[in-house]
Amino acid sequence: MDVLVVDHPLAQTRLTAMRRTETESGVFRASLHELTTMVVYEAARLFAIEKYPIETPVARTEGTRLANPPLIVPVLRAGLGMADAALALLPESSMGFVGLARDEETHEPRAYMESLPADLSGQPVLVLDPMLATGGSLIHCCELLADRGCTDIIVCCVLAAPEGVERLRNSGLPLRLITASIDEGLNEKAYIVPGLGDAGDRQFGGM
Ligand code: PRP
Ligand code: URA
Repeated sequence: MDVLVVDHPLAQTRLTAMRRTETESGVFRASLHELTTMVVYEAARLFAIEKYPIETPVARTEGTRLANPPLIVPVLRAGLGMADAALALLPESSMGFVGLARDEETHEPRAYMESLPADLSGQPVLVLDPMLATGGSLIHCCELLADRGCTDIIVCCVLAAPEGVERLRNSGLPLRLITASIDEGLNEKAYIVPGLGDAGDRQFGGM
């Protein structure tokens, strides 16, 4: 599995704002929005492009467009904070949704929503979830996509734990991973260390 870490200075300053406990939710959401723009920009290098004839006011030349714009799939809740930035860069894309909540005891994902096209064969998919911890949630999401015939999944994260990266790598799913950081590991509650806490709560408040 290909893994790309976006270690650009501007990505790291947004990530730093997100990590800090004192960062309030408005700044946290704005930082996630900006960081998503950078992560998706890097992810887009993986998209196939095609050339087509265009005319400038001066001459005929070749233009460039995405050969097959990806379906964007934010994993609710936390991935919702990445959706606007991704759609702004990819206005030709449409969007599906997967809702997952991790059980606090078992750390296993519980699915509460899915809204995806029935057939994803030939359709690249861009999955958005800021956090890859144990990997359970992203594997669940990517299995839903693979079950619908998807063979080209790009996962965009903000933070990943090595344990989650390894689990994705061993899953055999057809995916590539882009993240702004691979942190040290997981604590006993399966939170990423040093991490940023609960990405859903920090954006939207506790449930
Ligand atoms: C968070 C996060 C991921 C998941 C990562 O969501 O957004 O989806 O945890 O953990 P994992 O890799 O161990 O599965 P959470 O379940 O807390 O729901 P939320 O987005 O509604 O806060
Ligand atoms: N989900 C989060 O929001 N944060 C973590 O550190 C792990 C899972």
